[in-house]
Amino acid sequence: MARDAIRFWRNGQPIEVSGFHPRTTLLDYLRLQERRVGTKEGCAEGDCGACTVAIGRVRDGRVHYEPVNACILLLGQVDGTEVVTVEDLAQGGELHPVQSAMVAHHGSQCGFCTPGIVMSLFTLYQEAERPLSREHINDALAGNLCRCTGYRPIVDAALEACSGAPQDAFAKASETTARGLAGMADGHDLFIGNETRFFAAPASEASLAALYAQHSDATLVAGCTDVGLWVTKGMAELDKVIWLGRVASLDRIENEADTLTIGAMVTHAQAFAGLQNIDPDLGELMRRFGSAQVRASGTVGGNIANGSPIGDLAPALIALGSTLELRQGETTRAIPLENFFIAYRKQDRLPGEFVRRVTVPKIKGNEVFRAYKVSKRFDEDISAVLGVFKLTLDGRRITQARIAFGGMAGIPKRAVETEAALAGIFLDEPSSWGDALAAIARDYQPLDDHRASAAYRATVARNLVFKALSEAASGATRATRIIGLREPLEAAE
Ligand SMILES: Cc1cc2nc3c(=O)[nH]c(=O)nc-3n(C[C@H](O)[C@H](O)[C@H](O)COP(=O)(O)OP(=O)(O)OC[C@H]3O[C@@H](n4cnc5c(N)ncnc54)[C@H](O)[C@@H]3O)c2cc1C
Ligand code: FES
Ligand code: FES
Repeated sequence: MARDAIRFWRNGQPIEVSGFHPRTTLLDYLRLQERRVGTKEGCAEGDCGACTVAIGRVRDGRVHYEPVNACILLLGQVDGTEVVTVEDLAQGGELHPVQSAMVAHHGSQCGFCTPGIVMSLFTLYQEAERPLSREHINDALAGNLCRCTGYRPIVDAALEACSGAPQDAFAKASETTARGLAGMADGHDLFIGNETRFFAAPASEASLAALYAQHSDATLVAGCTDVGLWVTKGMAELDKVIWLGRVASLDRIENEADTLTIGAMVTHAQAFAGLQNIDPDLGELMRRFGSAQVRASGTVGGNIANGSPIGDLAPALIALGSTLELRQGETTRAIPLENFFIAYRKQDRLPGEFVRRVTVPKIKGNEVFRAYKVSKRFDEDISAVLGVFKLTLDGRRITQARIAFGGMAGIPKRAVETEAALAGIFLDEPSSWGDALAAIARDYQPLDDHRASAAYRATVARNLVFKALSEAASGATRATRIIGLREPLEAAE
């Protein structure tokens, strides 16, 4: 039996909401229905963080809080969670510790960004490992834009507020909240609406497969960090929405000796540790993926299925030789990830077919891996060019190369000419690198857009080949990077 209302936890009690348009965002619900207008709308596209709220979910027996951008989160996606907004923090006439610290350190001027910043700091207060570093706080605030105060007082406020273990009302209520959230997890499919307009959230893969087969014109929603912009910027109607967030089997991570398998609904925040363990460059790539808010909502499956030529994960996973698994009805199939991308925004996906998971081979002892994201800002920016390299070595000789680039074609694509030119060359003979450096120009006709010109991209790509070879040859990164420094690789020594 399907449930026809979402349920979530709000101010210590369960709430049921039904009868909403599938495209209703959490921000619109908060501001227009609840009339809680502390949560602001700035950009309405996930960039400024003015709309940040905290979402609580139970993991390991306690409630964990993550920041999300309410402007690009559909209301239906809060089913089964606790929603915390800036109005909820001060209790009994007393400000929350992060609010008091913001006041004490003069962390606010015009105040427009302040509710969002306070909510990001609230999640940091609940979750961060102590002692907290400035780098960690900068990371947590990368998705919150403040135009007038400047970040030093805000970071000082965070350092003060997060100096001890969390002891606020939310930490004290954690067990009660966890019981409340567990009580709402009924395992039923969710279906709100009718055959022509609905928000649905199947509870199992079988239900998802059946519903999507019946409504292959529906929009699948994972984290909604891409789809949200279709709503707020493209004014898309989204009459039929199937949200994948309740399909438990899609959010699994399987860590085997040689492979890491990541379910389609695993968020970037959840995938971070596993990918970082494969290689530090993957960790750095993920740290720079959007912001804490985008990483908390956005998923690995959504990033791949979206098919963007400038998506960050696809080139990295293609260079690693990953396999994508898809399902339509009862049928599953596995394909090399690179074959999924056919042409600009055209993927090898049948009607009613969805992405299940991706299996990523780990780096072997004789392989060198490098990933470089080039964007205008270090944080919270989309790649202009992303170059990813996996070089197999026999001593100091490259026997095989797998290279993939984003931002260089209409799809994430391998550099097959460059790969061929690299096979057989010696790392210690830079004079033999010339063919490979020239080949990259034959591999791509780069995009030419507002992010970067085609000429710029072509130059950057060539330079990234040179950088990968230089780092593989020397094992050092200090001369080639200003961020993302890493330990020298034994394989290259
Ligand atoms: C502020 C901001 C910063 C960003 N920064 C980056 C960045 O640094 N790097 C980057 O690569 N991207 C970035 N993005 C884009 C976006 O966050 C990612 O592409 C994200 O991974 C999308 O995942 P999602 O779960 O939110 O997908 P959704 O928005 O839910 O879905 C995206 C697409 O995939 C489809 N889909 C989702 N799941 C499945 C599935 N299992 N099977 C079939 N189809 C499916 C949807 O129908 C839709 O077409 C950014 C976005 C924002 C708003
Ligand atoms: S309003 Fe800017 S991120 Fe939501
Ligand atoms: S206080 Fe004005 S934008 Fe931050």
